[in-house]
Amino acid sequence: MTGNDFVVTPWEVRGDVDYGKLIEKFGTKRIDEKLLLRIKKHSKELHPMLRRDIFYSHRGFDRALTEYENGNPFVLYTGRGPSGHTHLGHLMPWIFTKYLQDTFKTKLLFQITDDEKFLLNERLSLDDTRDFAYENILDIIALGFDPKNTEIFLDTELIKSQYKLALKVAKKITFSTIKATFGFSDSSNIGMIFFTSIQSVPCFLESERRGKDVPVLIPCAIDQDPHFRLTRDVAERIGYPKPSLVHCKFFPSLQGSDKMSASSQESCIYTVDSPSTARKKIMNAFTGGQETIKEQREKGGNPDVCSVYQYLLYIFEDDDRKIKEQYEQCRCGELICGDHKKYLSEKVETFLVRHQENREKAKDRIEEYMVRD
Ligand code: TYM
Repeated sequence: MTGNDFVVTPWEVRGDVDYGKLIEKFGTKRIDEKLLLRIKKHSKELHPMLRRDIFYSHRGFDRALTEYENGNPFVLYTGRGPSGHTHLGHLMPWIFTKYLQDTFKTKLLFQITDDEKFLLNERLSLDDTRDFAYENILDIIALGFDPKNTEIFLDTELIKSQYKLALKVAKKITFSTIKATFGFSDSSNIGMIFFTSIQSVPCFLESERRGKDVPVLIPCAIDQDPHFRLTRDVAERIGYPKPSLVHCKFFPSLQGSDKMSASSQESCIYTVDSPSTARKKIMNAFTGGQETIKEQREKGGNPDVCSVYQYLLYIFEDDDRKIKEQYEQCRCGELICGDHKKYLSEKVETFLVRHQENREKAKDRIEEYMVRD
C-alpha cells in the first residue's frame, strides 16, 4: 500500500479512505440533490446523516422509491456480525434504518451473522458468537424499532429457511470471483468462501415468502457493499429483483483514524461502557487542536481531522446551526479542545444513560422480535 492507497472490504478498512474514489472503485452512485428531494417528499425533514453527506452513496435507491411510490413498498434489510459488544459506529446505520422505518412504515429484516464471525475469528466459539448476538440484539431493540414490523434472526437459528436461497446464490458465484472481490487466498477457510451467499439471502427472503417481487433496500456502511455487488450480479439470474443499497461513511475512531473499530478498546466507545469510561476515552481523544491553548487561540484548530468534531457531526449534534458554529469557532481559535471534549462528553453520557435503560427493558422484549425455524 503506497501513498493514497486504501483498502475497504467487509473485514478490513486500511489507509486514508477517499470516499469519492471509493464510489468510482465500487461503481456506486453519489446521493445527489435530485434524490434528496425525492426522499424529502416522503419525510418531514431529511435526516441529518443525509443533510451532512454521511449517507452519501447508493445503488438503486431511486428505483426502490419508484416502487414504493407505485404501491410496492420495499423491505429494509440490515445486519450485524456479533464478534463483540456494539460500538457507536455500528449504531450509525441502525439509527438511520430506524429513520427509514419510521418514514416509510416498512418491514425490517435484521440478520445476525453469528456464523460469519465464528468462521472469521479463530478465538470465537459458536457459543461466544451466540452470546454476543443476544447482547447486540439488546442494542437493536433499545433503538426502538417497531416490533410488529421487525424480524431479527441469527443465521444459525434460521438456517432452514435460508439455506435453499443461499444455495441458489452460491451456484452462480465462482471461487475466482470471491477471491477477486474479497482478496481471499487458497488458505482461507471454505466457510468464508461460501459466506457471501448467506448474507445475500435476506435480499430474496421476502420475495420467496410472498411469491412476488418485493424490493429490498439495505442501509449499511460502505464496507458491506462488496457482498451486495455480487448479490446484485446474480439476482436476476436466479429470478429475483436486485436489492438497492444506501451507504454511509465510517464513524471515526477516537484516535483519529478513519473507522471506529473494535480492534482498539481506547479508540472506541461501546454501548455498554459506563458514562465515566466514555468520558475518559473522550478526554484522551485525538483532536485537530494545537499543542497549547495560546497556539490554539492564535492559529485555530482543524475540525476536519478532529474526532470530537466528527462525533458531533455524525451522531451527537442534530442542530445544523450549532455544528456550523462549532466548526467556525474551532477554525478561528475561539473554541478550545478541552471545552469541546466536555461538550461532547455530556452528550455521549446522556445518550448512554438512556440507551442503557432501554437496553435493560429490551431484555424482556427479545421474543417480540425474534424469528427462528
Ligand atoms: P458489522 O457487525 O461489521 O457492522 C454492523 C453494521 O455497522 C456498520 N459499521 C459501521 N458503520 C459506521 N461506522 C463504523 N465505524 C462502522 N463499523 C461497522 C457496517 O457496515 C454494518 O452495516 N456482515 C455484517 C453483518 C450483516 C449486514 C447485513 C450488515 C449481515 N447482513 C446487511 C449490513 C447489511 C457485519 O459483520 O457487520
